[in-house]
Amino acid sequence: MKLWTISVLFMSLAAQTMAYNILVLAPFGSWSEYKLAKILGDSLAGVGHKVTLVSGFGPSNDSLITEIFVGSSINEAGNIFELDMMQIISYASENQKRFCNSMYTNNDVLDIWKHRNDFDAIIAFSVINEIIAPFLIEYTGTYIGLCPIGIEGWQISNQGNRLPKSVTPFTLANFDENMNFLERVLNVLLELVIWQMYDYDMVPQIQTLLENYFPGMPPAVDLYRNYSLLLINSHFAMDGIYPLLPNQVEIGTLTATLPQPLSMDLQEFVDGAAHGIIYFSLGSYAKSTDIPKTQMAMLLEAFGRLPQHVIWKFEGDHIVNLPSNVITRKWLPQQDILGHPQTLVLISHCGTFGIQEATFHGVPVLGVPISFDQHRNAARLARKGYGLFLNWDEMTVELIVENINILIKDNTYRERLQAMSHALQDQKESPKERAMWWIEYAIRHKGAPHMHYAGKNLNVIQYNMVDVWIFLIVILMSCVSLSYYCLRICCRKGLCRKPKQE
Ligand SMILES: *[C@@H]1O[C@H](CO)[C@@H](O)[C@H](O)[C@H]1NC(C)=O
Ligand SMILES: *[C@@H]1O[C@H](CO)[C@@H](O)[C@H](O)[C@H]1NC(C)=O
Repeated sequence: MKLWTISVLFMSLAAQTMAYNILVLAPFGSWSEYKLAKILGDSLAGVGHKVTLVSGFGPSNDSLITEIFVGSSINEAGNIFELDMMQIISYASENQKRFCNSMYTNNDVLDIWKHRNDFDAIIAFSVINEIIAPFLIEYTGTYIGLCPIGIEGWQISNQGNRLPKSVTPFTLANFDENMNFLERVLNVLLELVIWQMYDYDMVPQIQTLLENYFPGMPPAVDLYRNYSLLLINSHFAMDGIYPLLPNQVEIGTLTATLPQPLSMDLQEFVDGAAHGIIYFSLGSYAKSTDIPKTQMAMLLEAFGRLPQHVIWKFEGDHIVNLPSNVITRKWLPQQDILGHPQTLVLISHCGTFGIQEATFHGVPVLGVPISFDQHRNAARLARKGYGLFLNWDEMTVELIVENINILIKDNTYRERLQAMSHALQDQKESPKERAMWWIEYAIRHKGAPHMHYAGKNLNVIQYNMVDVWIFLIVILMSCVSLSYYCLRICCRKGLCRKPKQE
């Protein structure tokens, strides 16, 4: 009896301390997306797993994990101010090609590819990273998707869970989940058009490209979409409620941290701001140096008119005519600034991470969306009363000043955000713990086949019952017309005349 207890105890301990070998593939992504992968990797390494991260960013020195730079960086991706929505698919395939070529000519990456079956799990970005598919050829471990840009109908449907388009705004839409009739029509059309471009333009290009390096390569998208667990960088309080499967796990705010004290120079600047601070950042993808000249002049003039102090993440060396209440830095501790009680407004391009961090810290947002999912995120913030937004081509000095003043003077924005911030910080376990538990669970259960959703076996027509409805309507119409003809024949034979009264 005792021996039994001891051995059970030993076994459960062994299960807990089982160290796995995990590969994280995050070649094509922004700095924020890299950070998500890195923090996740570091957390896994922190509990004893061995982690290798392949990404488009140089290894950090403080890493607990092995980092491999693919040899191509997102910084070469170009100016997103000039990106047309209809070019997004070609933009994505051009960039993926560039990453693919550097990745599969890199000996470190190829070495990992050869030994891919040494890894218990592969975690990969599930958005526009089809070039990782060769790692999944005859891969016997557990494949896990990581969706850095929040709830995406597309990534979620890969597991068979096709979210209703009536309440799931397409990534590139400029509205949120509360759609009116016209928006629902647009939502379906937009997705159809972009999907055609994806299926008939990007997918064949990527396939041909991969076949150059891996002759006989099976269909890359089939491999790429086949994850058994999906970690989603979203939180229902912020992104809206969606019916998710048990193996679709929300890990939003994983990168958010409580604020640390500011550096001396920033603290001095903040202390000197009697009317508070406005923080302006276009994130890591868009660059402030790419802001068109007219809008740049408007922003500078608007900032000069404000009594607040402005901290601006600006990548260039210096700005002529910079008002005295503004400072710029190439890099800023975003969360320490957002978490500072003096910070009143964030001016943001509305990327997933910036928005998450602003809501986590309860700071109202003035959105200046540029591209990708940013218009949808801005619409979501505005419709829920967490901020306002301005389009770049409708921007004026007056509008900038006016919108900032509304966000500062109207307390309801801050109150709503504080409530939201409270909801985001009140989670059963931290998003990090949740992510790690699910990764370990998926590995322990070898991809957890018991979590395979039957919806995955059906195509879109079958899943939405289109075939069944057509079948039933045909039957119904046949019955109706059959009865009609029967009646007519009967009448002709005089069977349905009223009996004559005697
Ligand atoms: C890492 O350390 C090297 C040398 O110590 C330094 O040149 C490099 O800039 C550091 N890299 C980062 C990302 O901090
Ligand atoms: C998807 O993964 C399952 C196991 O998780 C496997 O049985 C199936 O063959 C895979 N499908 C493709 C297309 O790779």
